[in-house]
Amino acid sequence: MCPLQISPLEFADRPAVEALLDLVFGRDRRDRSSYHLRAGNPPRPELSFAARMDGRLVGSVQQTPVAVGDKGSRALLLGPLAVEPALRGQGIGRALLRHSLDAARAAGWLHVFLVGERDYYAPLGFGPAAAAGVRVAGEPADRVHHMALAPDIPPPCGELGPWLQPRSGGDTGAAR
Ligand SMILES: CC(C)(COP(=O)(O)OP(=O)(O)OC[C@H]1O[C@@H](n2cnc3c(N)ncnc32)[C@H](O)[C@@H]1OP(=O)(O)O)[C@@H](O)C(=O)NCCC(=O)NCCS
Repeated sequence: MCPLQISPLEFADRPAVEALLDLVFGRDRRDRSSYHLRAGNPPRPELSFAARMDGRLVGSVQQTPVAVGDKGSRALLLGPLAVEPALRGQGIGRALLRHSLDAARAAGWLHVFLVGERDYYAPLGFGPAAAAGVRVAGEPADRVHHMALAPDIPPPCGELGPWLQPRSGGDTGAAR
């Protein structure tokens, strides 16, 4: 088997990523709640990675800032995470997840949320977002997960929503 390489997602990867996500989530994937949460915000390039084998993209992960509650708090929404069906079960998903979480931690983000299968994410360190008082409209509580990237910092609570970029002054990058 070719060795796996994880590297930042690049603009040129876009067609391959879109094709993978269409294959994995279906062409109606933009109807999902997590797509609504990402509306208007591109994924963070420094937190988004490709898994490649022999130069070919076989998996990807992205992360996007979202708003938490109505007090201007911000966190990351991890996803979509996808691996080519024929190559699943070899640790590619975990490697992508670990890489993107390490990058988020290094960049000073404090909290990551995601919408997905509890059975996959719980063993990887995610807990129920509901326990932290966080929910996503239209999603059952057992599909919304949370990970704190730093100890002893409780997450802001409330509903996740799209992060509206400040009009001026730019984005400071750090999690609130
Ligand atoms: C979820 C996904 C990214 C995992 O990728 P992967 O490379 O197969 O994952 P890994 O090899 O790191 O982990 C495999 C393990 O996770 C388990 N697993 C994979 N998908 C799972 C799921 N949906 N629910 C529960 N467990 C799952 C496998 O059974 C395996 O368990 P084992 O190690 O005990 O044998 C991949 O299956 C995928 O693209 N799924 C469709 C898209 C999706 O659901 N993405 C996540 C939501 S954003």
